[in-house]
Amino acid sequence: MCGIIAYTGQRQCKDLLYQGLRKLEYRGYDSAGLSVLSDGRIELVRAVGNLDSLEQELRGDGCTGASLGLGHTRWATHGRPSTENAHPHLDCDGKISIVLNGIIENYQELRASLKAEGHEFTSETDAEVVAHLVEKFYEGDLVAAVRKSISEISGHFAFCVIHKDHGGLIVGARKECPLLIGVGKGENFIASAIPAFLSETRDVMVLGDDEMVVVTPDGVQILDLELQPLDREVTRVSWDAEAAEKGGYETFMRKEIYEQPGALADTLAGRLPDEGGVVLEELTISAEDLAKIDKVYLVACGTSYHAGLVGRYVLENWARVAVELDVASEFRYRDPVLSPSTLVVGISQSGETADTLVAMRQARSLGAKVLAITNIMGSQATRDADGVLYTRAGLEIGVAATKTHVAQIAAIQLLALYLAQIRNTLPADEIDAIARELRSVPELMRGYLDNEATAHEIAKRYYQQPFFLYLGRGVGLPVCLEGALKLKEISYIPTEAYAAGEMKHGPIALLDQGSPVVVVANDGHVYEKVVSNIEEVRARDASVIAVATEGNEGIRTLSEDVMYIPRTSEMLSPLLSVVPLQLLAYYIAQLKGCNVDQPRNLAKTVTVE
Ligand code: AGP
Repeated sequence: MCGIIAYTGQRQCKDLLYQGLRKLEYRGYDSAGLSVLSDGRIELVRAVGNLDSLEQELRGDGCTGASLGLGHTRWATHGRPSTENAHPHLDCDGKISIVLNGIIENYQELRASLKAEGHEFTSETDAEVVAHLVEKFYEGDLVAAVRKSISEISGHFAFCVIHKDHGGLIVGARKECPLLIGVGKGENFIASAIPAFLSETRDVMVLGDDEMVVVTPDGVQILDLELQPLDREVTRVSWDAEAAEKGGYETFMRKEIYEQPGALADTLAGRLPDEGGVVLEELTISAEDLAKIDKVYLVACGTSYHAGLVGRYVLENWARVAVELDVASEFRYRDPVLSPSTLVVGISQSGETADTLVAMRQARSLGAKVLAITNIMGSQATRDADGVLYTRAGLEIGVAATKTHVAQIAAIQLLALYLAQIRNTLPADEIDAIARELRSVPELMRGYLDNEATAHEIAKRYYQQPFFLYLGRGVGLPVCLEGALKLKEISYIPTEAYAAGEMKHGPIALLDQGSPVVVVANDGHVYEKVVSNIEEVRARDASVIAVATEGNEGIRTLSEDVMYIPRTSEMLSPLLSVVPLQLLAYYIAQLKGCNVDQPRNLAKTVTVE
């Protein structure tokens, strides 16, 4: 979604801000802009569309010499994508400039009252009210004016403000949307995500909720809303700038698909020790509390929800605990039956998805224990939970989630094994056998990816098809749902994913001669039933593309194409069987000429409900 970068220092900041915005592109946006303090006045440059349009606008002498400025990529929520609605916004006199992420929920009332007081608005956005509020409250002290503005607004937001009479000063504030400070030498940055300044500094401070930050070239001061100073540690992030780049691959998505063995290995590291058992040290919910759990409720969106679907099978199978599951955007409108013995698990790569956060907060307010599974340290989900289990997939930039998905599946498998250990639902030797096998999966996946050649050939034969059906049973079903989501997200081809047994109750009507039907048909207790469904597909002259277990030669006679994955036990198979489906979607999208890293209309992090 929207991205913020701000700079104060000695260097000319136009390019620094622009490069920062480039690093935030992955979040999704439809317009962009910069404002800089130049020769005692604020210069504003904005453009609709991608950053190339902004670059065109920036060509020439504009904004040079400036060493204080703000940059923003906007993903439209209030008001269509347009130059006027793009950030930064200015106050009436062009003395104050702001960039904002999030939503000001009471902007209509504020706008009406500010208009009545004589403020003139130039955009349809909710964000512009903040520029006018700061103007209204400004009496020579920018920090005090920002503080007063915050007390007027409701919603969730992160914003930065500069004023033409305060050279070198940026004031930032956050409520529920991320804002980070990149600490440099004689210069500092503020951004909504670390990659924006990672090429300049790896020293980071995280701004907390209901906090403000006052940044100058030589100092960073974090304040609470009483304007009392707060101590904050500087953390050195281990990602280097290279990790935020494509590393030789043509796209981030392809790079991230190939990073999956490492993401998986990192997520398992130290949690399945050689001496046996499962160790989840950072899980701050005690083993005693977890032993009392009688229901696990999984809430998530999109790909994270599909990881939750895999989780349901392993939690039931290994930990013998009742599991419920819902998409986060629906959970809140139900009347979920929760108690202190319910464990609600919010799964979110970003830890900032608004629907998932609302569901987690609701669960907590109803007395449940809440656990976050997330990839992002310090994200909002980690603050809204009683405990956190991190996936360690590293930074994912492609909008379509891949490596974070397999890391999420692994994290839930770890949780299920841990609960099985606490609840004595599996004997120790069985837990150790599963743990050993789990530890071997990254290597199996690496071997598979190194030798993979089929997905591209299959993609070449089918990429012009108008529709794909995906079928699976048991743990194969969430894999199908994820494979179908990947294909529609990045290639815009309509897909349906169905429980294979349900096909004859409706979707079979869609099949015609040559219709591609992707079937997850790994060895396991539902394999024979899946074969029956394949026969039903073949009887309609549709084309079967199977994902099957290495060594299953028989399936070749039933399918036009087979993508073989290494053999594992059934409960671990989703870690591997999702990979050929990611690749199939990837190659089809490439052949169709689609932008796989930034599919149309999609945002990496969906911070609106
Ligand atoms: C994944 O390919 C999608 N872009 C999307 O469904 C995503 O998984 C969803 O928005 C949830 O995001 P989160 O994991 O950051 O909460």
